[in-house]
Amino acid sequence: MSKAIPVVTVDGPSGAGKGTISQLLAAQLGFHYLDSGALYRLLAMAAQRHKVALDNVEGLAVLAGHMDISFEMNPDGGSPTVRLEGEDVSDLIRSEEIGKLASLVAALPEVRQALLQRQRVFAREPGLVADGRDMGTVVFAQAQAKIYLTASADERAKRRYNQLISKEESDSLPALIEKVKARDERDRKREVSPLRPAEDAIVIDTTGLTVQAVLAKVRQHVDLRLGH
Ligand code: DC
Repeated sequence: MSKAIPVVTVDGPSGAGKGTISQLLAAQLGFHYLDSGALYRLLAMAAQRHKVALDNVEGLAVLAGHMDISFEMNPDGGSPTVRLEGEDVSDLIRSEEIGKLASLVAALPEVRQALLQRQRVFAREPGLVADGRDMGTVVFAQAQAKIYLTASADERAKRRYNQLISKEESDSLPALIEKVKARDERDRKREVSPLRPAEDAIVIDTTGLTVQAVLAKVRQHVDLRLGH
């Protein structure tokens, strides 16, 4: 990563508000946006489609390095369009099932290694907002501004629930709370690049805060760090 390119990292557990905040921040700053979770979700989907088993570590690593994917920014600051082998899979990769598979493949060091460079090329002028679990600790450890967003497990599950009912997935709220907790446990406890705040990150608890309130806090920190 070139030192001169400004990078803002936004890490945290699922449902903490990373995606919404990162996309708005990128749009405000005119920066590129990396949804690193989408890479793990795309890999999970590609593995399903090409029948690569979850215990075929080498096969998964090769797929991670070579899968045909693309991201198209949305000019209105919304989610990018995500394609796998040319097909728009933006909605398909958001299911809880793919989320769980993504978290499983993400625990494999060979997979993380294969995806490292594919993530780093997103750091281009005029700057990048990178959203994930290990953006500030590993992938962009030299980033100028690091944010770690968190929220209570119940609130995070409620946010997921509201996203999923609009997609007609049928988990009850208590079932979803359990799934969200299980996925976070796995992401926190894995040996490689576990979910944790970077030492130089500011931690913001978004429980009960509006998007605008979180964005204002994030922006204040970013402006200070980037010298805007
Ligand atoms: O942010 P998300 O829910 O789309 O991420 C899906 C899974 O991918 C998540 O459970 C863990 C994994 N992930 C990761 O290990 N490292 C990242 N930088 C981003 C996501």
